[in-house]
Amino acid sequence: MIILEDRQALNNWVEQSRLWGGKVGFIPTMGALHEGHLSLVREAQKTCSQTIVSIFVNPTQFGPGEDFNQYPRTFAEDKALLEEIGCDAIFLPSPDVIYPEGGQTFVSVEPLASQLCGASRPGHFQGVATVVTILLNLVRPHVAYFGVKDYQQLTLIKQMIRDLALAVDVVGVPIVREEDGLALSSRNRYLTIKERQQATALYKALMAAKSLFQSGETEAIKLEKAAHLVLHESGIEQIDYVEVRHKETLACDLTVVDPVMLIAVKIGKTRLIDNMVLSS
Ligand code: PAJ
Repeated sequence: MIILEDRQALNNWVEQSRLWGGKVGFIPTMGALHEGHLSLVREAQKTCSQTIVSIFVNPTQFGPGEDFNQYPRTFAEDKALLEEIGCDAIFLPSPDVIYPEGGQTFVSVEPLASQLCGASRPGHFQGVATVVTILLNLVRPHVAYFGVKDYQQLTLIKQMIRDLALAVDVVGVPIVREEDGLALSSRNRYLTIKERQQATALYKALMAAKSLFQSGETEAIKLEKAAHLVLHESGIEQIDYVEVRHKETLACDLTVVDPVMLIAVKIGKTRLIDNMVLSS
């Protein structure tokens, strides 16, 4: 496995991989890798001849007072995990490789970027859209892999790729969960034992809404109430949102046909998100 730190080294690798033919699969990450990330790499390995993972804690997607400085940086472990599963390359840029001095351009995907997580994290999705565009332009993959775990992010990236006519296929990979349902996240390591216990309520809340929907309830507000109740009962007080949206567009609908439920809460100081398509 090769580690590429600058644009020149990356470009040489990209040119070489393209010469060999076959597809290049790309998995953008911020590191602190877990099984969720690794499932993206495994998915890429099914159809791509070369896989490359980027590890970059992107400063522009963190707001003031967010956890940019505390965000776990575990490169030695990340490298060992990627090596073990047979990843071909890691792109490990420093901030100036991604954002050379004098940059003036950002990518904005509105109004999608201002809703849900975007409402409480202003600028977050502009940072995501911008860094993903830069990474895609540098790596020039045939296919890029994103987790369904970050449902709004995946929806926004698909929209951006369509709007900007970027020449890459996007694959969404299902959420990897712990046995008790908690979605794997690099931020789970911030949780105390008690908070970790409370965090199982997100999955339970989604499951409650799903079973209500599958028993015939289609009023968004009632589905949201059912999920709220489960969160409250577990003692989670800082609920950012519990929303039922259209699963492709994330548009609001009072009566839902093909819905996804999205949840964001804070448990102690840790922000957690989860989602579930209610019809599947
Ligand atoms: P990060 O949080 O490191 O996640 C990298 C990728 O792993 C994302 O596509 C995310 O959805 C996926 N992922 C995380 N947990 C997962 C789980 N439990 N199951 C399946 N997939 C999971 O998302 C980002 O980084 C950044 O915003 C990034 C796209 C890299 C831009 O900076």
